[in-house]
Amino acid sequence: MIRLFARPMPLVLLLVFATFIPVMMAGVRVVQIPAGLLPPDGLRLGAAPVSHWLHSLAGILFGLLGPLQFARALRARFGALHRLSGRVFVAAGMVMALSGLSLLVQVDSIATPLLEIARAVFSAALIAALVLGILAARARDRAAHRAWMIRAYAIGMGGATVALVMFPIYLITGAPVTGLMSDLVFVGWWLVTIAIGEWIIRLAQHKEALA
Ligand code: HEM
Repeated sequence: MIRLFARPMPLVLLLVFATFIPVMMAGVRVVQIPAGLLPPDGLRLGAAPVSHWLHSLAGILFGLLGPLQFARALRARFGALHRLSGRVFVAAGMVMALSGLSLLVQVDSIATPLLEIARAVFSAALIAALVLGILAARARDRAAHRAWMIRAYAIGMGGATVALVMFPIYLITGAPVTGLMSDLVFVGWWLVTIAIGEWIIRLAQHKEALA
């Protein structure tokens, strides 16, 4: 298990698998919002079309570029591309967090305060992790840069990959999780994702210490 995560490519493939559903969902919204084709379940967010659209677009870029940024082979061979796509990744993460906050403020919520508070806290944490990641890169502290960017990716994607848990629960029980239970699963999964990010950071540090 540890060997699997210690190798960069399987980890990248795993990330692509985990992020496929939210990235595809965001891609659908990027087309639907300007075309006025939002389905009934998305109309509530139509109250903030600009934030909704920017959030979806930024989510695609953040979700797609993250795994590429972490692929060591690409980083080593295409350093300039890593720096360029890193800038886009950071900008996308910032826009995603800020538009997420804007949606929280503008749209009538159907979630409990637990999830609303978690979204606000994790938006702020994402911005902080990205800023600290940039500062570490400027200071040429590679280990800290890598750690803060992995942390940022885990915080950002934790709120979007919950379908990985909700869907199996639905298949097992035959009914969608709703209300407080749904928000508990949502926030619980977010924390698990962040913990997985911390575990990957520790593994990378351990590997570097052995090298
Ligand atoms: C810190 C991370 C994130 C925060 C705080 C956040 C916050 C939010 C909020 C508050 C909403 C509105 C929810 C509602 O009232 O129903 C939302 C919706 C949405 N988010 Fe995020 N989000 C984050 C990450 C992501 C990521 C990584 C993606 C995509 C890869 C994404 C894609 C979307 C999409 C497509 C919607 C619209 C859903 C719909 O139209 O039904 N978000 N997000």
